[in-house]
Amino acid sequence: MGAGTEPAEPQCDSLEGRIYLDYNATTPLAPEVAQAVWDAMCQAWGNPSSSHPAGSKAKELIGSARQSLAKMLGGRPEDIIFTSGGTEANNMVIHTACRHFHNSRKTGDSRGIPHIVTSSVEHDSIRLPLEQLGKEGLAEATFVPVSPRSGQAEVDDVLAAIQPNTCLVSLMLANNETGVIMPVAELSQRVCALNRRRAAQGLPRILVHTDAAQMIGKGCVDVQELGVDYLTIVGHKFHGPRIGALYIRSPGTATPLHPMLFGGGQERSFRPGTENTPMIAGLGQAAELVNKNWEAYEAHMRDVRDYLEATLEASFGKQRIRFNSHFKGSKRLCNTCNFSILGPGLQGRRVLAHCKVLLASVGAACHSEKGDRPSPVLLSCGISPEVAQNALRLSVGRGTTRAEVDRAVQDLLQAVEQLEQDQAS
Ligand SMILES: Cc1ncc(COP(=O)(O)O)c(C=O)c1O
Repeated sequence: MGAGTEPAEPQCDSLEGRIYLDYNATTPLAPEVAQAVWDAMCQAWGNPSSSHPAGSKAKELIGSARQSLAKMLGGRPEDIIFTSGGTEANNMVIHTACRHFHNSRKTGDSRGIPHIVTSSVEHDSIRLPLEQLGKEGLAEATFVPVSPRSGQAEVDDVLAAIQPNTCLVSLMLANNETGVIMPVAELSQRVCALNRRRAAQGLPRILVHTDAAQMIGKGCVDVQELGVDYLTIVGHKFHGPRIGALYIRSPGTATPLHPMLFGGGQERSFRPGTENTPMIAGLGQAAELVNKNWEAYEAHMRDVRDYLEATLEASFGKQRIRFNSHFKGSKRLCNTCNFSILGPGLQGRRVLAHCKVLLASVGAACHSEKGDRPSPVLLSCGISPEVAQNALRLSVGRGTTRAEVDRAVQDLLQAVEQLEQDQAS
């Protein structure tokens, strides 16, 4: 393609007649985002650090993307740092918390190693770095189990896990498998009150982080309401490019931020490396779409998801469908339906393998190689292993229609019929 040629409009949600209901795994670029990426590639290719016009154009685009992200979160542009994705943002928070712990130690203080509290249902980009630090003896972590009653990590349980050496609490805003929304705002308030008492005792401040990967574009995300110190943003979950960002409340002043990389000073040296201008421009455009339309997106996805759940019950019968993320009193993402079709031999993976048009998953995309083992997230929500192994996660998108839902449920019906016939013969 020559400069100025328009990119083909992405058609990823209709893959040769298949029905994509896996929007929690990833989303296709919105056409406006693809256009913004392309425009930036063609017109803002200069090095943003260069002091001539080619550089200024790129710098301007990055500045405006930063503003769009800040607006989306109710924060300030200077509180946004661009990263390669959510994994890097989450790792950066953990790295920062450990450094903060050591820096806040007084001389002669033998408080040991940093302690981090998180939940048992976090994404691997929180769980695995913490397990690694634990193995190396560099930090310890408590993984607070979610309550089988609410599907949430309860605030009281998180607070009860706090120790004198705790330096970070990290709780995701919404779970990627069940869609359950966690009580982050209440947690931040309680930790803030606790921090005042800890300061008087000379204990390290507890930083608060939330991974908002699944919530952005599907509900209101406001850093002032949430009261968090850090918030993770993942572009490819809201029709943006595969980069991310980290919100930090006043990085380097009110809130510590320690770089993991050292280099050319970009992103105020918090995250050096020549900026990926086209992807950043695309992320800014994706944020603008959310700013303008999130309420309409949410209403549409909720309507289609509720229709999906009603159609599943009507088609299979109430007795055969178990919804795995209906917890009384807990809010959940507008687009996520995690359910099991009850019966022997109907493991989620087998059912999906017999589907002809439906593209969905049995849980987190990064666990897709784990065979028929039931999802640890569902098990920790108190779902029995027999039910959990039959689980399917269908997540609808901005453009999913009721007609697609009808076809997807028909497909599930024929897959189950096929499996039952095979078993009977
Ligand atoms: C809740 C959550 N956090 C973090 C990530 C990781 O983001 P990335 O793939 O951009 O590194 C994901 C993506 O799957 C996610 O669902």
